[in-house]
Amino acid sequence: MKGVILAGGSGTRLHPLTRITNKHLLPVYDRPMINWAIKTVVDAGIGEIMLVTGGTHAGEFLRLLGNGNEFGIDRLSYAYQEKPGGIAEALGLAEKFVGGDDVLVMLADNIVEYSIAKPVANFLNDPTGARLLLSEVKDASHLKHLGVPEFGANDTIIKIIEKPESPPSNFCVTGIYMYEASVFEIIKTLKPSNRGELEITDVNNHFVDNSSVKFDILPGYWGDGGESIEAFWEVNDFVRENGAVKIIL
Ligand code: G1P
Repeated sequence: MKGVILAGGSGTRLHPLTRITNKHLLPVYDRPMINWAIKTVVDAGIGEIMLVTGGTHAGEFLRLLGNGNEFGIDRLSYAYQEKPGGIAEALGLAEKFVGGDDVLVMLADNIVEYSIAKPVANFLNDPTGARLLLSEVKDASHLKHLGVPEFGANDTIIKIIEKPESPPSNFCVTGIYMYEASVFEIIKTLKPSNRGELEITDVNNHFVDNSSVKFDILPGYWGDGGESIEAFWEVNDFVRENGAVKIIL
């Protein structure tokens, strides 16, 4: 399985901080945000990773990460997204790198309290379709800024709604996704959304429609440090007090 870490976008929700750097290079406790995503993917046993970024600060990632060996990466590749065209477009740039393998995709502003090794093992036991990681979010106003699954009979996901006015459940789809290689064919069929981007939720709904989506619910804390300045500081406070990507004993 290959890993793809997405660290592009213009980070407008964190202006003016992101006028002078890429959002994923801002600190979360004692290291740049991106390092937590790398730790998450490496800890799950994935050694071949592509980092997709864009914008005017892309070179800084090379300065920070080099060939990745220091952070446990065996082979680190980079891709450059010419314009912020959405998460699904960014993932599409990794098609040749993934080369027909399965892929774990992680948005570099997502922070997990615990290791995701177990859900990754669950996918590898049955490497078909898509496997999503959900997190329980109690605050309905927060869910309006996320992708939210609607459940049908037997706890199956029947639809995912991006930024819903009325959230259909108390769970969000986090920015951590596992896919079989057919994901790249799905991306080619997508049309831009109202915000002019190729949406990862549209990709996921393809797998929902084919009844080939599974999920795990993340234990512990999950946060998106790029969602707002408040979320950025909430994530910082949490990680400073509790750590992140901890091994579940
Ligand atoms: C993206 C996804 C959304 C998901 C969120 C998690 O939102 O579109 O479904 O819940 O990441 O971080 P964005 O950060 O692009 O608004």
